[in-house]
Amino acid sequence: MTDLLEPRAMGRDLVRRDGVQKVRGTATYAYETPVESPAFCHPVQATVARGRITGIDTEAAEALDGVLAVLTSENAERLASTDDAELAVLQSPDVAFRGQVVGVVVAETSELARQGADLVVVTYAEQEHDSALTVDHPGLYAPEKVNPSYDTDVVQGDVDAELAASAVVVSHTYATAMVHNNPLEPHASTALWDGSSLTLWDSTQGVHPDRKAVCTVFGLEEEQVRVVCPYVGGGFGSKGTPHANVVLVTMAARALPGRPVKLALTRQQMFSLAGYRTPTIQRMQLGADRDGRIRALTLDVVEQTSRIKEFAEQTGVPARMMYTANARRTTHRLAALDVPVPSWFRAPGECPGMFGPEVAMDELAHELGIDPIELRVRNDPERDPETGQPWSSRHLVECLREGAERFGWAGRDPRPGVRREGRWLVGTGVASSVYPTMRQAQSTADVRFEDGRYVVEIGAADLGTGAWTVLPQIAADALGVDVDDVEVRIGDTRYPIASVAGGSSGTNTWGSAIAVAAREFRGKFGTDPRDGDEASGQVDQADTDDEHATYAFGAQFVEARVDVDTGEVRVPRLLGVFACGRILNPRTARSQFIGGMTMGLSMALHENSVWDPRIGQVANHDLAEYHVTVNADVGDVQAHWLDEEDPYVNVMGAKGIGEIGIVGTAAAVSNAVWHATGVRVRELPVTLDRLLTALP
Ligand code: MOS
Repeated sequence: MTDLLEPRAMGRDLVRRDGVQKVRGTATYAYETPVESPAFCHPVQATVARGRITGIDTEAAEALDGVLAVLTSENAERLASTDDAELAVLQSPDVAFRGQVVGVVVAETSELARQGADLVVVTYAEQEHDSALTVDHPGLYAPEKVNPSYDTDVVQGDVDAELAASAVVVSHTYATAMVHNNPLEPHASTALWDGSSLTLWDSTQGVHPDRKAVCTVFGLEEEQVRVVCPYVGGGFGSKGTPHANVVLVTMAARALPGRPVKLALTRQQMFSLAGYRTPTIQRMQLGADRDGRIRALTLDVVEQTSRIKEFAEQTGVPARMMYTANARRTTHRLAALDVPVPSWFRAPGECPGMFGPEVAMDELAHELGIDPIELRVRNDPERDPETGQPWSSRHLVECLREGAERFGWAGRDPRPGVRREGRWLVGTGVASSVYPTMRQAQSTADVRFEDGRYVVEIGAADLGTGAWTVLPQIAADALGVDVDDVEVRIGDTRYPIASVAGGSSGTNTWGSAIAVAAREFRGKFGTDPRDGDEASGQVDQADTDDEHATYAFGAQFVEARVDVDTGEVRVPRLLGVFACGRILNPRTARSQFIGGMTMGLSMALHENSVWDPRIGQVANHDLAEYHVTVNADVGDVQAHWLDEEDPYVNVMGAKGIGEIGIVGTAAAVSNAVWHATGVRVRELPVTLDRLLTALP
């Protein structure tokens, strides 16, 4: 148990400190970094899904006026480490997926670089490829762990006996689509070598982790590399670890000593080079007593990874702790395919992993004739069912009840397909949300008194989440001063080491480090410091509470309308209620919640990377055909939260909020569409072709 900081600045609805720069366009993003006479790169990408390069003709590209260098596997520098095959760029003639980088052209302008890339002629010995995920793929295997280090399979109790003893068993297969991270700002960098020192302005979720990866790949000391990233135009996990583009721009810049080099992936290139969420297939069984008590829960997940690098999405993990069950089994199997490398996508594991189970709960509720909220309440566990640990706080039931009240759930007719308003079939649905409260392994903050103000430095990242604004609020309360007297500097490896902005752990980790630094500072200098007084504080894993299961919870409510003739789906209302500890800034928090919910709506109705297994490529690899929910698709989106006190998570009493908003939304949409139409869509996205044939 920690002594919670007294909230004076925390909890205030302060405007974003970086808002003015962003609105005026003066916030410089990585690609816009003002540098002297930059050169530009354009990658050359493989046009086969699997094979070996037999020849590369760069003559025409090199002859183009303004082309400065053409790098391929034949002339590129040898990297110090090729352990991470995704980052082993231009190191071998082997091609592992269509779109892989096989060269780069560096030129005076981005247009010339692109033209030059088109002139590079690569010939291949093409091999048979295998890129189609199926539930019974012959290559399915059990990974050693699923991300980041969870058990692959967990079996508790006698599943078969409990299923046999169940009054009702719901057994279905659910599926979520392959989806690609599409931040507005693409993956982009500016790189400059000066002698043996590298400066990298990179759009990243963490300057220190980014630097560490670059140092490993190039065999550099950390002192040789500075990574700078004050602003990010969206990062949903794809910028949480560096991809091939970062290695490529660094390599290209090294080929042009003293000259800064810029690289921004095109939207199309992001569909093969910047990660994505694997499609998932979820075989699910729920067995229950007549009164709704769950006896058995099984979830067997099939998903893909790339042949060159394993990424094991932890889709089965949330089902291990969400509800009570006498027995349960969760497993993961992967197929390693000739596909781009999957990676982090907002709420990895929890987001896809709360689709199948939360739709299954709705199906079970219907079978039993129990209200879906009541079914969840009856299966709310007193302790973490997997570990037996007490919850640091768990207010799922309260979220469901408050949401029901605000949404107007009472009196809902449980029968599907019976409400009609003109052309529209109307329905409502509910689902639960969850996200673990995590703190990363290491972060350090410095506090200094300077010209009558407190300056806090930490290499944290603001992806648009609000770190620029919220960290000063934490620092002010930790120091016991006015928030206007605190300046926080982030986004540069010149500041003390900070963990990645991932796993909704940023505020928890960095805020905790700032609080330790503030305590150090006060201990050393009291309340009347002199100019230049400075103290440092850090957190590591040892500081986290390991006696409690720490999670944030939420409840999502959806109204769906389906056109009775065309099957067009509209969602006029999304309402979420969350229990995420203390909310540090309602303005930035609301933006995280409704952003996540909107992304969940997008997952439910729109986002689908349509894979063509014949050629091994996403067919709709641009924003014209890869649909993302936009303003016109979003009606009334409301995010509410409970005042939750949790003295176990950290001194702020705050849980992570960046990802929970996307969790459960898609299930709530599917459940609402079923309630509207009587058609159960178990495969995302819920598109009209999946509804049309079954409409009344
Ligand atoms: Mo988030 S996918 O953990 O960056």
